[in-house]
Amino acid sequence: MDKLLVHGGTPLQGAINISGSKNASLPILAAAILTGEDCLINRVPDVSDTNYMVQILSALGADVERYSGTVRISCAEISEEAPYDLVRRMRASICVMGPLLARKRRAVVSLPGGCIIGDRPVDLHLRGLEALGAKVEFEGGNMILTAPDGLRGAEIDLRGTHGPTVLGTDNVMMAATLADGLTVIESAAAEPEVIDLANFLNAMGAKITGAGTTRIEIEGVKELHGVRHTVIPDRIEAGTFMAAAALAGEGVTLRRVCQEHLKAITAALVKAGHQVQFNPTGDTCTIHRGADPKGCDLITSPYPGYPTDMQAQMTALLATTPGISVIKDTIFPQRFMHCAELKRMGADITVDNGTAVIRGVEKLSAAPVMASDLRASAALVLAALTAKGTTAINRLYHIDRGYEHIDEKLLMLGANLERVKA
Ligand code: EPU
Repeated sequence: MDKLLVHGGTPLQGAINISGSKNASLPILAAAILTGEDCLINRVPDVSDTNYMVQILSALGADVERYSGTVRISCAEISEEAPYDLVRRMRASICVMGPLLARKRRAVVSLPGGCIIGDRPVDLHLRGLEALGAKVEFEGGNMILTAPDGLRGAEIDLRGTHGPTVLGTDNVMMAATLADGLTVIESAAAEPEVIDLANFLNAMGAKITGAGTTRIEIEGVKELHGVRHTVIPDRIEAGTFMAAAALAGEGVTLRRVCQEHLKAITAALVKAGHQVQFNPTGDTCTIHRGADPKGCDLITSPYPGYPTDMQAQMTALLATTPGISVIKDTIFPQRFMHCAELKRMGADITVDNGTAVIRGVEKLSAAPVMASDLRASAALVLAALTAKGTTAINRLYHIDRGYEHIDEKLLMLGANLERVKA
């Protein structure tokens, strides 16, 4: 198990490339199940979550090759039972359920277990697939979905108590591509990753309109074919480096970004007193730390709102920003594990009822800290960049789930850190 030693105090400067999106790649890899032909997917980030997905597809019988960010998948023969040992490692494995059900008319996927960022039910996924005609049973910790006569189009409202569901929308959209007739998803998630999946499916021959809005229509087709696709840039990785640049930078440029997807994050950084400039094509941005940063209030909400996946990193930035900031996470109200670790580094944060009140302190000081989930670990890395002394971040495997070569990218920007065996 690796840990990261971050020697704080070295400013970040220079330019790096942002990787392809992890959260777009995962459902797109799973969507390859929908055809027996070859799919070539470019810019899949080399992170452990995409590796798990590749392993799940291989275990299902797919022929998968991976080289330099490109994954080739051929699902000529595919079985319908996703292996528990692999599925339990990653909640996003649930997105094989829709494609398996559509292609095989049967899917066996284990119920995802608990998750550190909060209770993460799958009721909306099941509600959507049931509406398409699947029968749902539970046995031995597995969900068994069957539709022996195939799926049929339906009108489905996917809104839950915490808003729309991203992977739930993906699952229903994928299943509906091969259903008989028209499916309408109301209260659909409008995240850019859903649009990327819809573009991938449409290139395979699906008939999807409305992705990126809260109403998606899918006209079922008889079959889908192979395709080549390039995954969108990772807006959360970009946002994380933007926050790092605002916290510890002296001019950092990020290439291969998408300005449109970064509006809420940009607005938050500008509100906190920093400068973000995009080039005319919107695929490169430069961040300068403001001369007079100030606290700000944020509420996470579904896209195009401020993303929950950028809540922890912003908390780290605001921990040393003068003034009082209030951050409310409406999507995952329990996602504040990083605050306890930041407090060990000297941060002044009170968490109550899904809301963190942050009183900016002048400086954090190094301490051994424990990463609890992917974005929480990113927040700790950010905090460590300007902390006094050497911060040891344990359980680094959390960060390796979703950030491609984060230590190498930070080294390229001039950070002083090293990955060591714990
Ligand atoms: N929810 C339900 N029932 C369901 C599904 C979700 O009540 O059946 C609730 C959740 O508990 C949550 C809200 O709905 O309160 C939204 O959850 P959603 O289903 O949208 O989350 P997800 O699709 O499982 C994806 C990302 C997460 C990101 C969320 C929210 C992937 C692989 N994961 O998860 O990313 O936080 O959307 O934007 O796309 C991360 O990358 O660190 C990460 C956790």
